[in-house]
Amino acid sequence: MRECANRAVSEGLDTMLLIPVDVLKEGMTLAQPIYHPLAESCMLLNKGVVVQAKYIAKLNDIGVTHIWVHFDGLESLDGEANESISAEHIRLYEAINNSVDQLERRVEVKLSLHQYRKVVRSMLASIVEDPDHEVVTHQLTSCGSLLTGHLANCSYLSLLVGAHMTGYLKNQRSTLPADVAENTSELGVGALLHDIGKLQMPEEMQLKSVLDPEGEWPEYRYHVQTGFEEAREHVSVVAANTILNHHQRYDGSGFPRRKPRRPEQSPEPLAGRQIHIFSRILALVDAFDHLLCPHGKPVPTVAAIHGLKHSRFVGWFDPVVTETLFRLVPPFQVGSLLTLSDGKQAVVVSNRPEAPCRPTVRVIRGRVGEATARAEAHQLDLRMCRNLSVAAVDGVDVRDYIFTGELEPV
Ligand SMILES: [Fe+2]
Ligand SMILES: [Fe+2]
Repeated sequence: MRECANRAVSEGLDTMLLIPVDVLKEGMTLAQPIYHPLAESCMLLNKGVVVQAKYIAKLNDIGVTHIWVHFDGLESLDGEANESISAEHIRLYEAINNSVDQLERRVEVKLSLHQYRKVVRSMLASIVEDPDHEVVTHQLTSCGSLLTGHLANCSYLSLLVGAHMTGYLKNQRSTLPADVAENTSELGVGALLHDIGKLQMPEEMQLKSVLDPEGEWPEYRYHVQTGFEEAREHVSVVAANTILNHHQRYDGSGFPRRKPRRPEQSPEPLAGRQIHIFSRILALVDAFDHLLCPHGKPVPTVAAIHGLKHSRFVGWFDPVVTETLFRLVPPFQVGSLLTLSDGKQAVVVSNRPEAPCRPTVRVIRGRVGEATARAEAHQLDLRMCRNLSVAAVDGVDVRDYIFTGELEPV
């Protein structure tokens, strides 16, 4: 450890600590306001508030999962927790939740294209303003009921990925003027509505996803066609087609266009570049969001990324899109609480895409929650410490999910 410390990077980068609610202790001070997970206008506790015991159970009940706190030895790092992105994410959720609520109650409803476009453009503007913001995976996993939360998450993640591959968008949509080709508004709208066809399905089927073997059942497959037909009168052709083909896979498998049983049968399934780039982006973020919260139970981000590299997904996704997502979503978010293989706790201060599971950290002297605990001053670059690795995040053992920087399946 001493040898590693001597070689530690010292960039003067300090941060707050992002801890799960069950690690929160009386007397800690909030470093960011806490908003209700499903109502951006509802601030529960302001920054600077000292935590009392009665808050902790309440926050758990409401569904708040993670909290930024001040921690001795760590000063705040502006911009890591982008409040604007978080607020836009909730707006996406609220916009789709209103429609889904009405659809579920079989109320006559008009999908509000104007409203969807407004929230999508607003989210897009926030992403463009701060394209390198930390991706709030802990917020994605706490966002509401399974279907509406998933729709809002996929819209945000699609827009995020799209904003980081404008060159590829122009290449893939080369018949369009450049400004049109890189405009992803219709991707955001399509993603926000992509599973509305599931609302016509029995409740137990609505919970199925690409993670389930039943995801290949005919009843499940119909949701793309049903969603397409539901949305096509309200949204653009591009957004409707994004919905229709979000389970069409890069290698030609998937649906709705299935591989014919006999060669003479037609039509041939769409594959590769024949699938619209918006559907290719949505296909990937759809799987990733399900992997972040399989069957409603959040897992560490590193486990979700590991899941996406599994051999079962080989050939499913456009490799350029996959690489972009991996670059954008680090397995260990800045500020999060790790346990290293030597048993010490540490906080993540920066990530590097070429070694995603070896972040730079600051080791914590003592244990978080103890009155004397504090972060050591120097930074430790885990790339330089081959005898030291990440063992757990938020107390969850992740040793089976550690991967190298390469994109090959694990
Ligand atoms: Fe779907
Ligand atoms: Fe989906």
